Amino acid sequence: MTQIIAVHSFRGGTGKSNLIANIAATLTLKGQRVGIVDTDIQSPGIHIIFGLKEDKIQLALNDYLWGRCDIRDAAYDVTDALIAEQGNRGSVKGSLYLIPSSIKATEIAKVLREGYDVVRLNDGFQELIRSLKLDYLLIDTHPGLNEETLVSIGISNLLLIILRPDSQDFQGTAVTVDVARKLKATKMLLVINKALPTLNFADLQQQVENIYNVSVAGILPLSEDMVQLASKGVFCLRYSGHSMSQTIKDITEQIAGLVVSQ
Ligand SMILES: Nc1ncnc2c1ncn2[C@@H]1O[C@H](COP(=O)(O)OP(=O)(O)OP(=O)(O)O)[C@@H](O)[C@H]1O
Ligand SMILES: [Mg+2]
Repeated sequence: MTQIIAVHSFRGGTGKSNLIANIAATLTLKGQRVGIVDTDIQSPGIHIIFGLKEDKIQLALNDYLWGRCDIRDAAYDVTDALIAEQGNRGSVKGSLYLIPSSIKATEIAKVLREGYDVVRLNDGFQELIRSLKLDYLLIDTHPGLNEETLVSIGISNLLLIILRPDSQDFQGTAVTVDVARKLKATKMLLVINKALPTLNFADLQQQVENIYNVSVAGILPLSEDMVQLASKGVFCLRYSGHSMSQTIKDITEQIAGLVVSQ
């Protein structure tokens, strides 16, 4: 059964897109067929991490939502970006597809002005899973709560919530967890990102798990290397020996283990 993972944060800039790219790459290296849908229609960006240039995006999620194409036509095979990072095909056993959102101002404005049919979005997810024979579908969401995020949470097998150790994130995460429980989201996991390396991570994990009664899959430090990479690549492939890459692997294993055990 395909596992659908919605990745969300109440506030923006927490690191969702980069973490999704890293989890997706880790799963793909292991031989999984993975899809990522960028549902952050108002401020898309994950395509940049895979080096997918704007002029190469002929069709995007927006075109599917407006009935201009099949969703399969807006899926880009970005496996080559992983192969380029790895230096050889042999170490990338699976395939990775990205369905980007349009970066054209007119398309973004159209969605803001007119909205779209979220039922069609859900149909698109199911069609992608079928036609691309996906093992995993990862959904990158817009921060905060909106209709497509609620749909994503509702249909996912796992909701992964990213937060920073920041009071605004803590309060917002409580809202998301509450909504997810009301939607009867099957499984939830938290990832804390951008934690000051000087913090006591074990204490932080305990504190956050006590607040939400949800497991913390991992804590990623605020990293200068990540800032330097500046979304120009997949961190765990570029810096495979980095301690943060090991944490990303651990998080991915927990996700895989959790969704399989359902
Ligand atoms: N652990 C980290 N340490 C330092 N910088 C990080 C870390 N994780 C992510 N970043 C940086 O934070 C910025 C935001 O990351 P990203 O775009 O992945 O977040 P996002 O949650 O998807 O944002 P948005 O809500 O705007 O979609 C990027 O510049 C990224 O390089
Ligand atoms: Mg993002």
